[in-house]
Amino acid sequence: RQNERESLYIVLNFAKNFYQNQLQNSDEGQSIGLSYFRERGFTNEIRQKFELGYSLDIWDSFSKEALEKGYSAELLEKAGLLIPREGSSSGGYDRFRGRVIFPIHHVGGKVIAFGARILKSDSSSKANQPKYLNSPETAVYHKSDVLYGIFQAKNAIRQLDHCYLVEGYTDVISLHQAGIENVVASSGTSLTIEQIKLIGRFTPNVTILYDGDIAGIKAALRGLDLVLEEGLNVNIVLFPDGDDPDSYVRKVGAEAFKQYLKKASKDFITFKTEVLLQDAGDDPFRLAAVIGEVVSSIVKIPDAIKRQVFFRRTSEMMKVDEQMLITEGNKLARRLS
Ligand code: CTP
Ligand code: MN
Ligand code: MN
Ligand code: MN
Ligand code: MN
Repeated sequence: RQNERESLYIVLNFAKNFYQNQLQNSDEGQSIGLSYFRERGFTNEIRQKFELGYSLDIWDSFSKEALEKGYSAELLEKAGLLIPREGSSSGGYDRFRGRVIFPIHHVGGKVIAFGARILKSDSSSKANQPKYLNSPETAVYHKSDVLYGIFQAKNAIRQLDHCYLVEGYTDVISLHQAGIENVVASSGTSLTIEQIKLIGRFTPNVTILYDGDIAGIKAALRGLDLVLEEGLNVNIVLFPDGDDPDSYVRKVGAEAFKQYLKKASKDFITFKTEVLLQDAGDDPFRLAAVIGEVVSSIVKIPDAIKRQVFFRRTSEMMKVDEQMLITEGNKLARRLS
C-alpha cells in the first residue's frame, strides 16, 4: 500500500511537470493556455507558485509520454490520469484534454490531484462538458479531506492566526496575488468535518467568503453547525450578487477589497439570524421556527462564555427574552447529550 502511494505521488508529480511544460513550451499551451491565464490577470509569478499547467487538446499526449517514460497504464489509471477504453483490455485516453490545469497539493506539498478548467464553455464540441473536471478519488486523493491551497497558505494562516475560506481555485489564486495568502478553498462542495479539522490545525479563526447569491448563502449556512461544533470562530463576508472573491478583487483592487473584508465581515450566528429573520417576515410560526434554529446553532458552541454572548445578542435581534433562549438552549443541549 505504502509503495502504491509513493508511486502515485511520483507519477502525479511527473504529470504536474508535464502540464506545466505544455503550458510554457508548446505552441498550443502558449497561445491558448497562457493567454487564458493572462486574460484572467494572473502574473507569471503566481502561475509558478501554483504550478499551473495546460493539457493539449488531443487524446493521449500525456499518457503517450508517460508510457514511454516507463509508467504503467495501470498506475496512470490508478492516479486518475488515464481513462481505459471501454471493452478493451489495453489502451486508453487522457482524462484531461484541452484544459488549463490546477494541481491540488496536500498540506505537505505533494501533488495529489488536479482540477482542470474548460477554456470556453460555448465551443460546440464541448457544449456539454463541465466547467471543471477533477481527478477522481484515488488512494492519495479523498476530495472531502482536502482544502485547495492549504500548502501555499499554511504559514500565513499560522502567522496571522486567521484563515479565509473561499469556494474556488481561482479565488485562492487571485487573493494570493492581491497579497492575501491566508486563504483556502473548499472547491465547491459544502464543508466537511475533515476540512474543518484541517483548518483547526493552524487557527481557530475562520472567515467564510462566499458568493452573495442564494446558493452561496445556503452553502455557507449548511457548513455552519459543523464548524461551530469544532470550536472555531466563524465570520462571514458576502460579496455583491454575481461576484466571487476573484471577480471582486479584480474589480475593485487589493486595497478596496481588504477594506470591504473589514467592513462586511459578520460573525456567523448574527448572519444566520439575520438571514432567517428576513426570510420569516412577521409570520409568528415562522419566527418561532427561527428561534429554534438559532438556539440549535448556539448550543453547538463548546465555549460557555461565547454561548452566553450569542444568547444575549440574538435575543436582541429576535426581540425575545434572553432567559427564554437560554432555557430553550439547555433543554436542547440535554436532549442532544
Ligand atoms: N467546481 C467543480 N466542478 C464544477 C464547477 C465547480 O469542481 N463543474 C468547483 C471548483 O473547485 C470551482 C469551485 O467549485 O473552483 C467554485 O465553482 P465556481 O464558482 O463555479 O467556479 P470559479 O472557481 O468561480 O471558477 P471561474 O472563475 O473560472 O468561473
Ligand atoms: Mn478520507
Ligand atoms: Mn455561485
Ligand atoms: Mn470565479
Ligand atoms: Mn466562483
